[in-house]
Amino acid sequence: MTPNGKRYPPGPRGLPLLGLALALRNDPLGTLAGMAREYGDIVGFSALGMQRVLLSRPEYVQQLLVLQHAKLNKSPLTKQVVGPLLGQGLLISEGDFWRRQRRLMQPAFHRTRTNEYAPVMVECALEHAKQWRGGEMRDIAAEMMKLTLEVAVRTLFGTSLASDSDGIGRAMTFLMRYYLWRARSPWRVPASWPTPANRRAAREREFMDAMVYRIISERKNGTQPRNDLLTLLMAAMHEDGTQMTEQQLRDETMTLFVAGHETTALSLSWTWYLLSENPGAEKSLHAELQNVLGGRAAEPADLEKLPYLHAVVNEVLRLYPPAFIMARTNLEPAQFDEYEIPPGRTILSSQWVMHRDARYFAEPEKFRPERWLDGLMDRLPAGAYFPFGDGPRRCIGQGFALLETALVVAALAQRFQFRLEPGHSVVPEPLVTLRPKYGIRMRIEAR
Ligand code: HEM
Repeated sequence: MTPNGKRYPPGPRGLPLLGLALALRNDPLGTLAGMAREYGDIVGFSALGMQRVLLSRPEYVQQLLVLQHAKLNKSPLTKQVVGPLLGQGLLISEGDFWRRQRRLMQPAFHRTRTNEYAPVMVECALEHAKQWRGGEMRDIAAEMMKLTLEVAVRTLFGTSLASDSDGIGRAMTFLMRYYLWRARSPWRVPASWPTPANRRAAREREFMDAMVYRIISERKNGTQPRNDLLTLLMAAMHEDGTQMTEQQLRDETMTLFVAGHETTALSLSWTWYLLSENPGAEKSLHAELQNVLGGRAAEPADLEKLPYLHAVVNEVLRLYPPAFIMARTNLEPAQFDEYEIPPGRTILSSQWVMHRDARYFAEPEKFRPERWLDGLMDRLPAGAYFPFGDGPRRCIGQGFALLETALVVAALAQRFQFRLEPGHSVVPEPLVTLRPKYGIRMRIEAR
């Protein structure tokens, strides 16, 4: 009982000192889902001495992301994991600073603006696919990462990456593993010590910084008047007449760059995987694309005529949500029914857990795009399905990501079919995002 008679959520005790740290490290998804199954919609547990709470009821998710939003900050864990790379970018900044930056950036993500990017998205997909030879085997996750990287730099920053994309993919994967490993490790040496891992992390970070600073400097030195996001950020003035410092520009650019390509690449990668595993759904998608588009590229106006494509995307984001967990910390006591969480706890809500809850999704483990065709989205309680988060900190790039995913799937599915390499095991690895641990090796077949 808390001092005012409220209860603290029940949950597993785990190991002395470590709590659930080891279980979460070895099998994060299974551990989260298992706790929700065993202890219910609100679970209290600890990991490495830090008290955490997992919420798995739509009303609680709404409380966390929308209704009690003002009492909550992003969790220190999130900041520890992505902060070293993203600095004070939109994803983790707080308070007035965050509000001002969000207001500044929002217009660039307006639907009319985002729709202007459509031709570039399709062009990048078709250009990228030119390298593919019918019958060859490729890691489709790596391919999608390169494709969305190119889309991000061309649309958001009005430039091109050309040769850097392999290096960026490697750097991102290493840094995600490294920062997450540091955040989860009970014993770690300071980042400044010259261990091989620390030295490589410093090198990869420098590489990413150099790339971002190059983009910024190219845009600064550009002579043509531009209208893209980076130009907007550079021109923006604070009330006192100052502009963003080089560091702030770097942080926002890096944030959009990382948040803008990694997640979308994953939604595409999981799409090809799930379609190859579900030939019936793939056939329905092909039939719809053929009927509506007949081989031509999709435009934003076509998308409302492609309900099955929408359903496929919704279903992919349900089963393999690229952002699989949300973490907040409460600045004051937070109430969830008869429970009270004292300040300073990490409060979690997992898309992976909620999206596979049989109370809201029949046969939750099955890939069934059809479930979305008869208005399920409107029937679901708010908080049951939230691949893009919710509330004031909902993903700013949601429209951008959905447009890109739909256009790229429409473009590539009309030309190719991807088949999983026999024996290749596809294992979701929950790093910062939900990635395929060993990639997704697929045979590319021309249609
Ligand atoms: C399928 C693709 C994507 C998914 C699943 C996704 C998911 C999310 C989620 C769940 C959040 C909320 C995080 C939280 O509240 O803690 C978020 C925030 C954010 N996303 Fe996305 N995202 C995607 C694509 C994008 C794209 C394309 C961009 C930019 C071009 C982007 C930029 C951001 C930014 C800047 C934030 C922070 C917003 C704020 O706090 O004000 N995301 N995203």
